[in-house]
Amino acid sequence: MKGLILSGGKGTRLRPLTFTQAKQLVPVANKPVLFYGIEALKQAGIKDIGIVVGDTKEEIRRAVGDGRRWGVRIVYIEQEAPLGLAHAVLIAEDFLDNEPFVMYLGDNILKSGIDSLVDEFIRKKPNSLILLTEVPNPEMFGVAELHGDRVVRLVEKPKKFISNLALVGVYMFDYLIFEAAKSIKPSGRNELEITDAIQYLVDKGYEVQPHLVTGWWKDTGKLDDILEANRLILESIKGDVKGEVDKKSKINGEVVLEGGTVVKNSVIRGPAIIGKGTKIIDSYIGPFTSIQEDCRIIKTEIEHSIVLRGSEIRDVGSRIDESLIGRDVKIFKGDCGPSVYRFMVGDQSEISIK
Ligand code: DAU
Repeated sequence: MKGLILSGGKGTRLRPLTFTQAKQLVPVANKPVLFYGIEALKQAGIKDIGIVVGDTKEEIRRAVGDGRRWGVRIVYIEQEAPLGLAHAVLIAEDFLDNEPFVMYLGDNILKSGIDSLVDEFIRKKPNSLILLTEVPNPEMFGVAELHGDRVVRLVEKPKKFISNLALVGVYMFDYLIFEAAKSIKPSGRNELEITDAIQYLVDKGYEVQPHLVTGWWKDTGKLDDILEANRLILESIKGDVKGEVDKKSKINGEVVLEGGTVVKNSVIRGPAIIGKGTKIIDSYIGPFTSIQEDCRIIKTEIEHSIVLRGSEIRDVGSRIDESLIGRDVKIFKGDCGPSVYRFMVGDQSEISIK
């Protein structure tokens, strides 16, 4: 069994962050989203992994390497443009070499992992196994209509309601998916849709087995989803204080302070994670906050947020909540003069002031 992780695409819904970095490398609890997928495959015993990459290939290669760190073998498969999930399968045909495989979307996180599903697939040998979960907004996903436990229809981002069972971004296939992907035509958004390829399998009478996911699952393509994934992962972390905490500071609940962090005259209320070399001074860090390495948080209150490496937040005045702050960002109060806002903000940023 091989693994195919899809890490190309454009990431338009996470701009401006994704102007300068791959959406699959945005950190959740200080770990790139993509690493959760690699770990899930490894955990399920899959050691031969191909990663489909696009414009951000160099950055992904730098972050992931050859897989040695996880004890797996990783190769990269270049996609010239994001022409669809089924297109990604087609360009990986040589790598997959007719073996059954798990396709894992690089921006997805599945709490319960995939071990038992891979076992089920190997045991029952359907032509495909798809994961489904109920969602309140099916128009945002591919959905499947079931009759009993039989898949009868799949539609990508349906305009009219047909089912609230969304396709989770983890799929298992045997070699027949190549016949399917070669037989379909590009969709209205000009992509070869995996949903249409699976519909082809259904129409030909091949066995597509549905599996309902009960634990949580997140597609981290949008701000709210990435914050929610961060919250869900932090909910299960165990505290580990390696940094330096002065006597005037309080650390409550599950808090990870990586090596070289400095906390002075501050309160950190977990679950929270603070990356190495970060300094927290005269501040309050509330629950569900992940701050990456080498940040400076001074006279600031922040919670339910993610701050990427190298950023500095100083003396902001109000609490920062539900925010995603990029790399090397500076947010601070000006020295004196009238109360004004002064911004230098990248394209497609979003700032909310109350
Ligand atoms: O997250 C689950 C959903 O993922 C499913 O319900 C949908 O049926 C499925 O089409 C997909 O929808 P999205 O619109 O969320 O897909 P997105 O364009 O975000 O791509 C998913 C991942 O695959 C992402 O990591 C980028 C990568 N990708 C995407 C395309 C279109 C590629 O590597 N190559 C591509 O050509």
